[in-house]
Amino acid sequence: MRPIRSLSVRLLVLTVAFVMLAEVLIFAPSVARFRLDWLNQRLAEAALAAQTIEAAPQGMVTKVLEARLLAEVGAHLIDLTQPGGRVYMLATPMPPDPVASFDLRLAGPASLIAEAFAALARTHSRVIRVAGAVPHDPAAVVVVVIDEAPMRDAMAAFAGRILALSIVISLFTAGLVYLSLHRLLVRPMRRITAGIAAFRRDPEDGAAVLIPSGRSDEIGIAERELAEMQAALQTALRQKTRLAALGTAVAMINHDLGNILATASLISERLARSEDPEVVGITPRLMDALDRAAALCRQTLSFCRDGVLPLHCAPVALRGLVAQVGTEVLATRRQGDRERMITWDNRVADNLTLCADPGQLSRALFNLGRNALQAGAGRVTVAADRRPGHLRVTVADDGPGLAPRARDHLFLPFVGTSRTGGTGLGLAIARDVVRAHGGDLKLVDSGPGGTIFALELPERALLAGPEPSPGRPGRDESG
Ligand SMILES: Nc1ncnc2c1ncn2[C@@H]1O[C@H](COP(=O)(O)OP(=O)(O)OP(=O)(O)O)[C@@H](O)[C@H]1O
Ligand SMILES: [Mg+2]
Repeated sequence: MRPIRSLSVRLLVLTVAFVMLAEVLIFAPSVARFRLDWLNQRLAEAALAAQTIEAAPQGMVTKVLEARLLAEVGAHLIDLTQPGGRVYMLATPMPPDPVASFDLRLAGPASLIAEAFAALARTHSRVIRVAGAVPHDPAAVVVVVIDEAPMRDAMAAFAGRILALSIVISLFTAGLVYLSLHRLLVRPMRRITAGIAAFRRDPEDGAAVLIPSGRSDEIGIAERELAEMQAALQTALRQKTRLAALGTAVAMINHDLGNILATASLISERLARSEDPEVVGITPRLMDALDRAAALCRQTLSFCRDGVLPLHCAPVALRGLVAQVGTEVLATRRQGDRERMITWDNRVADNLTLCADPGQLSRALFNLGRNALQAGAGRVTVAADRRPGHLRVTVADDGPGLAPRARDHLFLPFVGTSRTGGTGLGLAIARDVVRAHGGDLKLVDSGPGGTIFALELPERALLAGPEPSPGRPGRDESG
């Protein structure tokens, strides 16, 4: 940063300028006051000189004394009028005519300032007439005719002193203000800026996180907020790095798993030729499951490579797909759970056809259904209805509702699980799938009476189905 542009230098220049401005505002009335005092002093001396005539024998002074008195005051003429009408006058033999006349009794602040500056600016000397009250006898009026030059010289000397003092005061004040601001603002700001720059250079360096100075003012708050933001960013970065490593590992596992599944598929084809009718009966389901597992491996691989979920959309009869997912969900029940009566209530209308990836859509519904079962639900109801602008597929259960941890981290991979053995991926996967279809997965409600999730799919995904009103519920129950 160029030094002239730095905050410190700007502060210094601004402080000097403002203090000088304040001094100028004080300067004008001070000079006017100085002129008024100077003239009043002359009038007081003049009145005193005139009063000596009163004390003189027969009210007369000698020419020599008169000249000395006038010289003492610095006046060409003195005229004192007392209340009784008595007039005392002292004058040089040929007093010059005044070119300007001022009455100090009538002068207001504005005219005093204007006259003071006019006197200061004048380059030639002139003779002026000044009238005013006598200090100890306000009823008396004293008039003097004097040269303006001595007053102007005194005023110029005074203005010079004030100017010098102003410069000293402004530099001193500016220095103090500068030092305080530098210490209070500029230095901490530089520290924060350096902290931000160091963090930008290497966001993963733990030492780059700013250590707050512990101040309680706005700078302290900024430091603490920045430090917290840097720490949160580092945690997020670490998590992202771990997830990236995990992504690579998943890609590798999927690659090898794909090969293993291909072998398993070949073997299951041979099983189909078995003599045992029971084996022949279950083999198509086994082959179907293996095919879907292999497809999942391929899709996961391309997801790891391209970062987008690949969809292979086709017309899907939703009711049939929901029924198939129900069978699979119920098949995942553990031994202890098999005695428990669980109802998969399929209320999707018969004629509802979607353009969607059947494998991915089953995946989303399967995760939602399995979650309901694992939470302890006795009934899972899947329904679909057409809303303005979208198709809504709801998965509702009568389980205990979402745990606080799951609710706080809803849809966040790995962190939302509250189940022992859960990975916290099911909801994240389901939402990714619905989003890949151009829709969104939303939590509609959750409480002690159960949980409802809604898959909102865009209207364009609907190929055939009921009019925009809740579809006539069909019913498929299994337990
Ligand atoms: N229908 C539901 N009823 C109650 N809790 C639920 C329901 N669905 C999800 N949850 C809660 O949300 C958490 C996160 O679910 P999610 O499917 O993302 O992960 P998971 O089931 O724990 O693990 P997995 O990756 O194996 O699915 C669950 O642990 C569970 O506590
Ligand atoms: Mg789950």
